[in-house]
Amino acid sequence: MPTFANRVLPFGTTIFSEINTLAAQHGAINLGQGRPDFDAPVNIIEEAVKALQSGQHNQYPPGIGAPEFRRGIANHASKVYGLDVDPDRGVVATAGATEAIFASILGLVDPGDEVIVIEPYFDSYVPNLLMAGATPVFVPLHPPEWTLDPDELKAAFSPRTRAVLWNSPQNPTGRVFSVEEMTVLANLCIEHDVLVISDEVYEHLVFEPARHIPIASLPGMFERTVTASSLGKSYSVTGWKVGWVYGPPELVAGVMRAHQFVTFAVHHPSQLAGAYALAQPGTYYEELQAMYTVKRDLMMEALTGAGIKAKTPEGTYFVMGDFSDIFDGDDLAFTQHLITEIGVACIPPSPFYSDEHRHLVGKMARFAFCKNDDTLRQAGERMKKLLK
Ligand SMILES: Cc1ncc(COP(=O)(O)O)c(C=O)c1O
Repeated sequence: MPTFANRVLPFGTTIFSEINTLAAQHGAINLGQGRPDFDAPVNIIEEAVKALQSGQHNQYPPGIGAPEFRRGIANHASKVYGLDVDPDRGVVATAGATEAIFASILGLVDPGDEVIVIEPYFDSYVPNLLMAGATPVFVPLHPPEWTLDPDELKAAFSPRTRAVLWNSPQNPTGRVFSVEEMTVLANLCIEHDVLVISDEVYEHLVFEPARHIPIASLPGMFERTVTASSLGKSYSVTGWKVGWVYGPPELVAGVMRAHQFVTFAVHHPSQLAGAYALAQPGTYYEELQAMYTVKRDLMMEALTGAGIKAKTPEGTYFVMGDFSDIFDGDDLAFTQHLITEIGVACIPPSPFYSDEHRHLVGKMARFAFCKNDDTLRQAGERMKKLLK
């Protein structure tokens, strides 16, 4: 009887599917998955509708991406970060950042190469590396401030290191790494001639006074970095799954070789709307950040009211809460309790760790605050029961 390939045998169902099912069964307010429960800006949706109705954008776009979208990505990188990106040779449109990262790994990392992964990591990174035959080498961030130990980082580099998978603003810790922290990483990458695959999907979800700095903008880094991002978080369209990779043409060509045989091309009308979205004025991002600052503060209030300690996130729409003062079990038991007894869903972070470092978050849970203010207030009310 045919069965699964060995390649996928170790992979369970993602924790997000499990939590969503349990949350739905128990009518819990779902602060698990980073899925906004409000809609995207009307003008961005209208652009997608226009593209659908234009009669011009319902067939295959170029595999590399619609020219308008690639120009939009390059202009955005130039306007916001001062980066010089070639829209014709330095950009590939992908099926979300998820494919951007996978195509980057397939196109730039060989079987047997080591890739440094910072923990906690986004859940697709390690399965992506394993499917590519690469070996993840883990470096944990240290709670409660989620700092990177420069010595541990240095020790992770070896002659077999090919790349570092970097994510700032970081899911799930809410860290936005400083230029000093990134300089340590950049210097090590230059010294060891290592690539960076930089996941910057939360580039616009940053709270004052933190600033997002693309690692590609550090001296000597553009030529060794491919940057992945997407429309999902910045424009509240996580369901569109349209993203991109940009970087130096020599590396992007490798990503493109993989992309052409993974998806070939991605949803054409959304790329037109994406070009429009990327040209939003600075005020759009200020308003987005103001909206998320209110949500972050409501989330922090809800956690404090429930006796859960947390470092205030500097970016993203996630916060990691430490429940050790109010609950005896581990993160999986806490999540189960919160969903079934309190009616609020969160995500246990241990699946975002290697076995070796999982203990670091045994008393923590991740909460997503990309939700209506009233949803967050209601969750806060329910969570007060945790103290009783
Ligand atoms: C850190 C990180 N990277 C990548 C992704 C995936 O992005 P996309 O939905 O554009 O594929 C997410 C989505 O939650 C994320 O949090």
